[in-house]
Amino acid sequence: MENNFSIIVLDSNDNSREVLKAYLEEFRFDAEIKLFSDYREGLKEIKESTAKPVVFIDITNCDEKYFEIIEEVKLFTSKIVVTSSDYSTNSIVRAMRLGAKEFLPKPVLKDDLKRIIGVFIQRGEEQDDTSSKIITVYSNKGGIGKTTIAVNLALELAKVTKDKVALVDLNLQLGDISTFLNLNPPFDVSYVIKNLIDKKDETLLQAFEKYKETSMYVLADPSYIEQSESITPNQISDLFKALKKVFPYIIVDMSSNIDPNSLKILDLSDWIMFTTIVNIPAIRNSQRCLNLFKSRRYPDNKVKIIINRYMENDEIKIEDIETTLGDKVYWKIPNNYFSIMDSINKGVTVSEINPNSNIANSFRELASKVSDDIVEMTITKYRI
Ligand SMILES: Nc1ncnc2c1ncn2[C@@H]1O[C@H](COP(=O)(O)OP(=O)(O)OP(=O)(O)O)[C@@H](O)[C@H]1O
Ligand SMILES: [Mg+2]
Repeated sequence: MENNFSIIVLDSNDNSREVLKAYLEEFRFDAEIKLFSDYREGLKEIKESTAKPVVFIDITNCDEKYFEIIEEVKLFTSKIVVTSSDYSTNSIVRAMRLGAKEFLPKPVLKDDLKRIIGVFIQRGEEQDDTSSKIITVYSNKGGIGKTTIAVNLALELAKVTKDKVALVDLNLQLGDISTFLNLNPPFDVSYVIKNLIDKKDETLLQAFEKYKETSMYVLADPSYIEQSESITPNQISDLFKALKKVFPYIIVDMSSNIDPNSLKILDLSDWIMFTTIVNIPAIRNSQRCLNLFKSRRYPDNKVKIIINRYMENDEIKIEDIETTLGDKVYWKIPNNYFSIMDSINKGVTVSEINPNSNIANSFRELASKVSDDIVEMTITKYRI
């Protein structure tokens, strides 16, 4: 194994530090292991490391200083594991939002520890593509609000997570993300698929247009319809693989058609934000589409039902929709034609133009929920 690989443990509990060390030595990774009870001293060591170390930070008791340390460590390495004997979700969610990649409950189980170290060794400096999430906004009916949701969700997610979020326009023939955001990106999906799939991460990142001073990166749809016609399902699969190495979150907008490319996108998505509105034809159509998802054996929780243009006083109640669709509604986005049109016309997101509107709040809260639920999924992996 690489000999410039090092592990640094920050833990004020003597016993658990020693246990961790004993396990790590038992695995016989060719790694230097350094233990610190004083977190500041450990931080100094991390700053001086030549290679990026894997860092274990114990956050039991949730002392404020632990979170400050995570923020500082994040500037030097992304390989951060938090440990804790307190499983309260809030502190773990906070640590993960600050940049911790894994959570290891105490007492530490040898197998969990081995798996985590293995993942970090394999991953090298790249983004872990198993923790990266593809979230696709879909509806089998056009004009329901897919692009509106994809654009606003992506930006709010970039703001809450402070991590890189890709916004990818896979509405290959009629994409309009660049119009929604008033962008003129130099490259597009078809160029990336044909030329950049095997290139280094930095090259791939350069094909995206960074949106203002945010961590949202936009990849536009092909400029000509002929280019979109030559894109195949296999190429979509390769594109996703490449994107997962660079972005922890990938938000996809697509067309309403069900064709081989669309099915590939839906199959490979981790989550489908399945969008509908409250009217009978739309709900009937949704039912058909959910049946299709069932027949494709999508796992539980992959499909999240989003109600767009929701109005409190609608005759059709949310409970009726849930009964008809046989699933809970994940989120409701209020109807606010004025704010949405204003934002589309000016080529910005709703939070930029109307930050206190009900719809800007709804997108912000949706992004927080998405980020919390993803963190919760990561934590659940380790629960018995
Ligand atoms: N929550 C909302 N409140 C009011 N109007 C909305 C809302 N969401 C979307 N709209 C309106 O609906 C129209 C269609 O939205 P959008 O373009 O996002 O849909 P789409 O599903 O991406 O359409 P397409 O299938 O053509 O790609 C927009 O002009 C927008 O003004
Ligand atoms: Mg659209």
